[in-house]
This record gives sequence, structure tokens and C-alpha cells, in this order.
Amino acid sequence: MDHFISLKNIQTYVSSCINSGLFNTIDDTSAVFYDFNHLFYKIKLLRKAFPESTFHTTAIKANPLIKVLHEIKKIGFGSEAASKGELFLAQKAGFNNNKIVFDSPAKTHSELEYALKKDFHINADSIMELDRIAKIKKSVKSESTIGLRVNPQVGYGKIISTSLAGEYSKFGVPLKSHKQEILDCFKKYNWLTGIHLHIGSQGCEVELLLNGIESGLKLIKEINELLKVDHREVFFIDIGGGLPVSYHHNMSPTDIIEYGEKISEMLTCYNLNKLQVITEFGRYLHANSGFIISKVEYVKHYEESNTLIIHSGADILLRECLNPDNWYHEFSLLDKTGKLKQAGKTKNYHIAGPLCFANDIVARDVELPEASEGDYIVIHDTGGYTFSMWSKYVSRLLPKIIGINNDSYEVLRKREKLTDILDYWSE
Ligand SMILES: Cc1ncc(COP(=O)(O)O)c(C=O)c1O
Repeated sequence: MDHFISLKNIQTYVSSCINSGLFNTIDDTSAVFYDFNHLFYKIKLLRKAFPESTFHTTAIKANPLIKVLHEIKKIGFGSEAASKGELFLAQKAGFNNNKIVFDSPAKTHSELEYALKKDFHINADSIMELDRIAKIKKSVKSESTIGLRVNPQVGYGKIISTSLAGEYSKFGVPLKSHKQEILDCFKKYNWLTGIHLHIGSQGCEVELLLNGIESGLKLIKEINELLKVDHREVFFIDIGGGLPVSYHHNMSPTDIIEYGEKISEMLTCYNLNKLQVITEFGRYLHANSGFIISKVEYVKHYEESNTLIIHSGADILLRECLNPDNWYHEFSLLDKTGKLKQAGKTKNYHIAGPLCFANDIVARDVELPEASEGDYIVIHDTGGYTFSMWSKYVSRLLPKIIGINNDSYEVLRKREKLTDILDYWSE
């Protein structure tokens, strides 16, 4: 299988759904397609890349669809939840409590109490949070494993807004200035057994990710040295997610096998092979596993530019519209039956969404075959961090999400109805 869903498969998926009526060409002005076959391929590679003992989770925020979470659970993975809502989803998807990793920088007292009672794995984001956990633990019996998130301060990636290991980050305890405090916590709290780090999401080169992990391993060596007298040691390292994917179809993505091998080498080098590794990948699993189709409602030819008005804009592609220098997708054009429009005569188009603000433009100057009203724009590689970042601005209806598993199709989430919008904005 390729790193991307092929155009051949996209045409098959779209035309099958149009023919069967699953994609209703009148009411479905756009739809998200999610390919489980591709997800399973990514999971297979991930498993191959890491030691067998690794505990893999998926970052729910990248793709919170309950049916997707359910498939991931069936495979034996856990899930990483970053809010009360995500915890609820993880439980509803059927993950065992000890397979749920609770990360959030703003855990309330009652959320922590609940997480401890349910024996979720918890990563504390600060020393203040550890102190809060310590207080709650006095009155709550818990089997939770607990880690502390550190910021290894190894530098920023190419995208500042998704880089979390620079000198300053709102997440984790800064390692350079607070190492002693971190060591003190491990000494003080005998239930603190792991280190958590997450260097960033997309834009972080593998070398940066590995530097961050190496800092974590060095820290663990120091902690272990300190705890030796108590016959204790650090039990796990949670390396977060952050493996970058490719959105450019002529560029190969980062090789996860190489990444896994390098991590294994480091574990050996630091004599930490016994350490339980936890991963929290989101984008790696999902981004290339989905695509959007969106109807060309109007083709506007002006002297200044040609603009296609489609039904997917900043409501579903928020980062792409607000920060186009950092976020990129490839586009293709299908006719109204789902067949690829082949290049012949081409034109450059701005691809604009349906919202009422100037920057609601998904991409500019995209070369495409000549487009007509009723065609469909394919926005490739939108299986992660798209519909999960859905914005209600202008009260548009979240489109239908269609899943493909082997050769069968099912609706993973129905198109929103007008009454859903009313519910959302009502008391
Ligand atoms: C704590 C944590 N873990 C994992 C992830 C997933 O990152 P990615 O989707 O880049 O793998 C995120 C996303 O930002 C995160 O904040």
C-alpha cells in the first residue's frame, strides 16, 4: 500500500457512494471519507516499528469518531484523552480503564478524583498537579499509573504554533530550570513512576523528536540513580505523538521503522530496555487515511483570479485558512459522477469556502483542469485534525462522514440537521 489513498481508490469510493445514494448529491454538498484499510496499514507499520512491549494509544483529538476509536480499541491499542469529553468517548468506545491515558493541562479536582478512582493512566502536566493528586490520593484508593510531563526544551520545529519543546511551553515542567524540583518529586512521591513528553505535532523533524526522547532517557537515568537507595525506578516513558506525515504526494513521509529503530537503539544505549514505552500518535494514524469531497457551487471568473466556491472552508480546515504558509493539501477535481477530470486545459483557482470572512480560502492558485458547477474538489489527506476542529461559526452543518472498510461503506457520522444547529444555539 502507498502512503496516500490513491486517486483510483478515491474515484471508486466516491462513485460507489454516489451510485448507492449513500452520498446524496442534492443534500450532501460535501463529505468526509475515512478509509479504515489505510488506518490498518498505518497501525501495522507502527507495530512493526516499535518493540512488542510498547503500549500504543491514539490521540483522540486527531479523530474522535466513535467507530474509529472502536476499531482502534479492537486492535488492542489504548487511547489518549485530553479532556473530560475525550475521557467519556474513550469509555464509550470500550477502552479498558487501564488503557486510557489522561493528559490535559487543566484537569480539575473532580476530574482527577474520577480518573484516580477509575484507575486511568494519568500524566500530570505540572508539579502543582502532582501536589493536587497527592492530596486526593489520601482519600481515594487507586491503581492509576502516574507520570509527569516535562518540557525537554530541545527547540522549536518548523511550525511554532504546534511546537511544544522550545524554551517556553505552556505544557510540562521545564527541564533546564526545574530539574531539581523534578528529582525531588520522584523522591517524594513513590507512586510517580514515569516521564511524559510530547515535542510537538507536525513540523518537528525526527532529529528533534529523538533529541527530546534522549533528554527524557537521560533524566530517567538520573532519577533511577536517586531512587536506587529506595529500590525504586522509573517504569515508563510516554513519548507522545508528533511523527510528521507528508501532505505532498511527491514527498515520502518520515520512515516510522527508522524512527522506532532509533528509539530502540537509544533504550539499549542507556540500558533502559526494560522501560515501558507509551506512544500517543494521532496525525500519523489518521491524516493520510481520509479525504474530503466538496461540491463546486460556483466558478467565478474575474480578471484578478478564478475562484471556486466550495462547501468546505475554515469551518473544517481552520489551520489551513488561518495559517496557509504552514498547512498544505493537494487537490484533485472529480466530475459530478465521481470520475477524475484529467488535465487538458488547466486553470489556476483560488479554492474558497462558504464562510463570511475574507480568509476563508483553503488554498490559492491551485492548478486544476477546468472546473464546472457541480464538480467535486477532492481535498486530500484530511483524516486527522480537520472535522475534529470543526467550527460552528456561521452555523454550517457538519458534513456526513463515510467510512470504508474492506469493500463496504457505512456512515460514521450523519450529516448534521438544521435542528442540530438549533439545539447547539439553544438553552
Ligand atoms: C499530549 C499529546 N499527545 C499526542 C498528541 C498527538 O500528536 P500527533 O497527532 O502529532 O501525533 C498531541 C497533539 O498535539 C498531544 O498534545
